Amino acid sequence: MKPHRMIFGIVVLACAPWARNMWAQGDGTRSVWDGVFTKEQASRGDSAYSQNCASCHGTALTGGESAPPLTGGEFSSNWLGLTAGDLFDRIRTTMPADRPGRVSREQNADILAFILSMNQFPAGTSELPSRSEFLKLIRLEAEKPKDKK
Ligand code: HEC
Repeated sequence: MKPHRMIFGIVVLACAPWARNMWAQGDGTRSVWDGVFTKEQASRGDSAYSQNCASCHGTALTGGESAPPLTGGEFSSNWLGLTAGDLFDRIRTTMPADRPGRVSREQNADILAFILSMNQFPAGTSELPSRSEFLKLIRLEAEKPKDKK
């Protein structure tokens, strides 16, 4: 192989993951399996959740006397197929049930990251945004896509 061809080949290979990523973000096909929050964000969300949500939804998100669980089958069947933005808006506008609007957008994004991590979705390298229009590009999906390790 001629040297310049080889260099071309290496460049193409090196760019492939980047190109795939751009493509996935560009047309809105990201899902919760793509590592859409960071571990640090989820752990900030853990504290915010303890302060604002745990009293009703339980420390393990399993629900309380009147509040529904935020993990498991019932929760999944309510939300899978929708987007992270739908869930974010639901939390932002109606929760905490005793005082909606008390929690800031940033904290709600952190709490959403915590809820996703507790539902066994993987962490990644960028944080969940706190804007609904960006969160609407992230699908809540039950099945891990086949091409993901
Ligand atoms: C005072 C008790 C209380 C607090 C505090 C509270 N919730 Fe709720 N939550 C409820 C109740 C009751 C419902 C079900 C009735 C309703 O939708 O209003 C609910 C419903 C929900 C739902 C919808 C669940 C589903 O399967 O559709 C989500 C998501 C949720 N809460 C998230 C949160 C988050 C996140 C926080 C903290 C920022 C929080 N809640 C704080 C009582 C509470």
